[in-house]
Amino acid sequence: MPPRRAKPGALLDVDEICGRDKLIEEMWETLEQQSVRLEAEKRTGKSSILQLMAANPKPGWLVVSLGLLDVHSPDELADAVYAKLYPHFGRWGRAKFKAREFLTSLGGTEVGGVLKVPDGATRPKGYWKTLLKHTIQDLVECKGEEKVVLLFDEVSLMLQNLILRSDENTAMEVLDVLSHLRKDPQTGRGFRMVLTGSIGLPHVIARLKTAGFADQGVSAMESIPVPALDAADAVQLATDLIDGEALVAADKAKSAAALADVSDRIPFYTHRVAKWLAGRPGKNADPAVVDRAVGELLADEQDLLELRHFRSRIDNYYPDDKAAVVAILDMVARADTPLGLDEIAAAINTAVGPESGKLKDLLRLLVLDHYLARDGDSRYRFRYSLLKRWWRSDPL
Ligand SMILES: Nc1ncnc2c1ncn2[C@@H]1O[C@H](COP(=O)(O)OP(=O)(O)OP(=O)(O)O)[C@@H](O)[C@H]1O
Ligand SMILES: [Mg+2]
Repeated sequence: MPPRRAKPGALLDVDEICGRDKLIEEMWETLEQQSVRLEAEKRTGKSSILQLMAANPKPGWLVVSLGLLDVHSPDELADAVYAKLYPHFGRWGRAKFKAREFLTSLGGTEVGGVLKVPDGATRPKGYWKTLLKHTIQDLVECKGEEKVVLLFDEVSLMLQNLILRSDENTAMEVLDVLSHLRKDPQTGRGFRMVLTGSIGLPHVIARLKTAGFADQGVSAMESIPVPALDAADAVQLATDLIDGEALVAADKAKSAAALADVSDRIPFYTHRVAKWLAGRPGKNADPAVVDRAVGELLADEQDLLELRHFRSRIDNYYPDDKAAVVAILDMVARADTPLGLDEIAAAINTAVGPESGKLKDLLRLLVLDHYLARDGDSRYRFRYSLLKRWWRSDPL
């Protein structure tokens, strides 16, 4: 493998992204049957996975990627989907497109080869729904037997933006229309979506549900978690980073193993630690130094490992149970071995009350939110050692 520079959080070139073969194979297999939600924490490598899928589509599939970071309204979403899909329509050689006719009827003009209703022009009510539906119908009608997957990155951020800019109703409607397109027997044929989100899609959906909206479909899409890298890939990445950053290691294999290990095999952390080591005099990467570097990073005020959101989001995710959740996490972080339900219940009795049903619910959610993991014998521990160390250091 080529040496790699440490680039924590940067957009990588495809050949800088390592591993993920098994996960991507699983994604393609699932896509044969249904659409997918790719759910994971910030910085776990979701966008990189989409990049790999787009760069090496499975034969028979057309992949179209769409980042939703800048989408703040349903109109912007429909425009973006149309602009992304339209250039592909030419391949299938058909002259009449409903979406095109619709935009022309509204005075749309060509901008960079794509029809667009001028900014500021009044758009009829329901513009985005009509444009989205026509675009997908055009796509499905002209693509024939070819299969198409739309990779929507940052869906949960878009939903949050929609809630902020408009309201819950609008966000829910967007989810509804997307899931309707997916389920529709006409448009659903050979048309799939991958949705990713770092702001806990289940919590956004839960928030919409609490606001009185029934979630019809997106939460029923197959959810595929993003795991840490396989052991061999994690060590390979660590080795390539040691080479790329010219780190000094008396025993490179041991240093690479230590680097992969302290970063829980999550590539963002591996890049971050490697970059920190590269910035130290002597660039030493012996295992003890690697471990010390993690301690320094955990104490760093800039939150270079980007762990703070694990604490700040508790207010949002658990508005009624904040104290209990913090008490559980404090306790599991302090323990040297995984804890059983009884031990946790005894210690946080005052925080959640004696009902263990409530405690079980919270523990289940904390597992789903990737704070904790539950061992086979029903004992709880932090899922990531790095997060445990950080939590233990009691940052505030
Ligand atoms: N497979 C990989 N190989 C090497 N480095 C990776 C890999 N996946 C992620 N990284 C590292 O982690 C960083 C974050 O990855 P990526 O942007 O794909 O994550 P994300 O889950 O999309 O993050 P966000 O939640 O911020 O959108 C990258 O900049 C890179 O440093
Ligand atoms: Mg991303």
